[in-house]
Amino acid sequence: MTTLVTGGAGYIGAHTVRALRQTSRDVVVLDTLERGNKEAVIDADLVVGDIADKNLVAEICHKYKITEVVHFAAYKAVGESMTQPKMYWQNNVDGTVALLDTLIEHGVDRFVFSSSAAVYGTPKSVPVTENEPTMPESVYAETKLAVENILSSPERSAIKSVSLRYFNAAGASSDNKIGEDWLASQNLVPRVMRALLDQAFHFEVFGDDYPTRDGTCIRDYIHVEDLALAHIKALDYLEHGGKTMICNVGTGEGTSVKQLLEMATKVAQRAVPYTIGARRDGDPVSVYADTRLANSVLDWRATHDLQSIIESAFNWHRTHLTGYR
Ligand code: WQD
Repeated sequence: MTTLVTGGAGYIGAHTVRALRQTSRDVVVLDTLERGNKEAVIDADLVVGDIADKNLVAEICHKYKITEVVHFAAYKAVGESMTQPKMYWQNNVDGTVALLDTLIEHGVDRFVFSSSAAVYGTPKSVPVTENEPTMPESVYAETKLAVENILSSPERSAIKSVSLRYFNAAGASSDNKIGEDWLASQNLVPRVMRALLDQAFHFEVFGDDYPTRDGTCIRDYIHVEDLALAHIKALDYLEHGGKTMICNVGTGEGTSVKQLLEMATKVAQRAVPYTIGARRDGDPVSVYADTRLANSVLDWRATHDLQSIIESAFNWHRTHLTGYR
């Protein structure tokens, strides 16, 4: 009995593989390595290939006796999804449909899906509950919502699933082995780390005239190791007969860009160099999670605070200045 992790060589996937191994599960990773790193796959078998390759997935199901799947494999750059929409629909949605078909043929009926708080777009109120209407503002978010809908549709009722809507994943592993390569990410924390560690990098805060306490946008930064544990809880829930559901995974705490910069300054013991730039198109003012569903149904809650996120990220980045290269 083995857990299949698609996209397990990516940032969140690799952390989840390690969390799974710590529960003594056997794990096999399926990853194209197009954007993942084989060095991030620790203590699990790695098969290099595509989720849409039905023969390959069938072979893995058979060889490893797969009973459950955690599905990360997808493209995740919001900006790129707007310029390459077809590529996103094909990889994220068509690829997932092919994967689900093969899994159903092989009797696999437990599936945890890597979704995103991006499906909410700009929520009307915060904290955001799972019942908030979904209003994707990018093709990336549309593809995540499309897969959630496919998973809830009667045609896929053979598979029970948990779609985890991640808020802003950040940080690195506590043993400093895996982190988020700043060359492969546009996200705030790796950029702030780069601003601290690479003099040639120019970091810009995207707008300080928002209607928030310090004028900068508010997000819910969740430690990647906490996020990884949510997948274990979701698998346990399904193993115990849980029904298909959608669940937020965040801390419930809103943090502004400036608050995060202050924490980075405290941790690094030097100021983060930055300038204030224009607002970024499509940025919602404030998004953070209502986590009651995850707390009650999955028995999960975040244990790391912002300081722990920034400390782990800083440690990883200053010892991996060229990422995995
Ligand atoms: C966070 C805040 C920026 C960079 C996106 C996706 C979401 C998920 C995570 C998943 C915002 C500000 C950022 C910079 C800045 N994707 N910022 N300067 O946009 O909340 O979420 O990534 O796979 O689906 O939408 O995350 O890290 O880009 O931005 O001021 O150089 O930092 O404006 O307020 P976001 P982010």
